[in-house]
Amino acid sequence: MIESILDALLEPALLLDGAGRVVIANASARERLGVWVIGRSYVSVLRQPALLSPVEDAYAKNDDGVARFIHSSGEVETPFEVRVTPMSGGDGTRHVLLVFRDLSEVHAGESMRRDFVANVSHELKTPLTAISGFIETLQGPARDDADARTRFLGMMAQEAARMNRLVGDLLSLSRLEGQSRKRPTDMVDLIEVVTETLRTLQPGAEVEGVEIVSDLPDRAGVLADRDQIVQVLTNLIENAVKYGHQPGRIALTLKHVAREPVIRGPAWRLIIRDDGVGIAPEHIPRLTERFYRVDTGRSRAQGGTGLGLAIVKHIVNRHRGRMRIESVPGQGTTVSITLPAA
Ligand SMILES: Nc1ncnc2c1ncn2[C@@H]1O[C@H](COP(=O)(O)OP(=O)(O)OP(=O)(O)O)[C@@H](O)[C@H]1O
Ligand SMILES: [Mg+2]
Repeated sequence: MIESILDALLEPALLLDGAGRVVIANASARERLGVWVIGRSYVSVLRQPALLSPVEDAYAKNDDGVARFIHSSGEVETPFEVRVTPMSGGDGTRHVLLVFRDLSEVHAGESMRRDFVANVSHELKTPLTAISGFIETLQGPARDDADARTRFLGMMAQEAARMNRLVGDLLSLSRLEGQSRKRPTDMVDLIEVVTETLRTLQPGAEVEGVEIVSDLPDRAGVLADRDQIVQVLTNLIENAVKYGHQPGRIALTLKHVAREPVIRGPAWRLIIRDDGVGIAPEHIPRLTERFYRVDTGRSRAQGGTGLGLAIVKHIVNRHRGRMRIESVPGQGTTVSITLPAA
């Protein structure tokens, strides 16, 4: 009975008998710690003093306890928090129950949050420092210089716009995280959205000498959040312009896929190809991480925050779609987004 209760726990659990031997290792403990522990004395199983002493206290004083335990198997070290609970065994002796909670995800989450806060602070501090510098100059040396005033105000406006974009992107991300389980339900025609977005972005691309050539079918219905699809298209096209060749050409294609295996049904695939610097293979898996940029200097000089593809990935996931980035360094990059057809 107690054996099947312990097997139902997701966490590894060990029950020690009155003599300090492991009498039960539940399914999770057998898998994560190994079957060899059954029948062994806890001293030879646990070995780490931090955990041995609460177990001794449980036997000697009937005390509850908590301790850290690092389990190593080969190269991998897993940190656990172990709860130690004394209980009376049926035979009149004292038994001790050990339940192990895996802390690796908690630790990874903590370090991700720390990195995130550090990144956000850094990205905000850079324009803020610049703005403070301009204010000081305008209050001091450049107080009566009309030309300098105009120039500095222009640069201050640019830095403020960058901060505004960063905060806007952060809000988008946090909203998206809240919606990740809610699938969009509006019927949206991708052709209309693509055409409309191109109308907005084309003039800017032309200024950079970039021609956008599109090949679209007549109609492409998807269940989507229209504004979010605009956000996806805008970032991908902006990236193709920024990191593409200037002057150059971007090809935008929309294709019907009769059966997309991962989506398990018909889909629409949007393909954006540029002829730019490309991306070395080791960077590709990391591009959708927040703030990840291959060439930070180049991205920042163009007003980038490195949040664009992180937002794209969240939106595509929310739409139950797939994103794929392929690139040949020196020749160009192809990004495809596949969305389930409605
Ligand atoms: N088409 C592309 N060609 C080459 N590199 C690219 C391309 N698209 C993205 N990258 C690389 O991926 C990085 C991350 O892109 P992402 O869109 O997330 O950020 P960003 O464009 O730098 O800034 P933001 O989108 O926030 O303005 C870029 O900094 C760039 O190094
Ligand atoms: Mg971008």
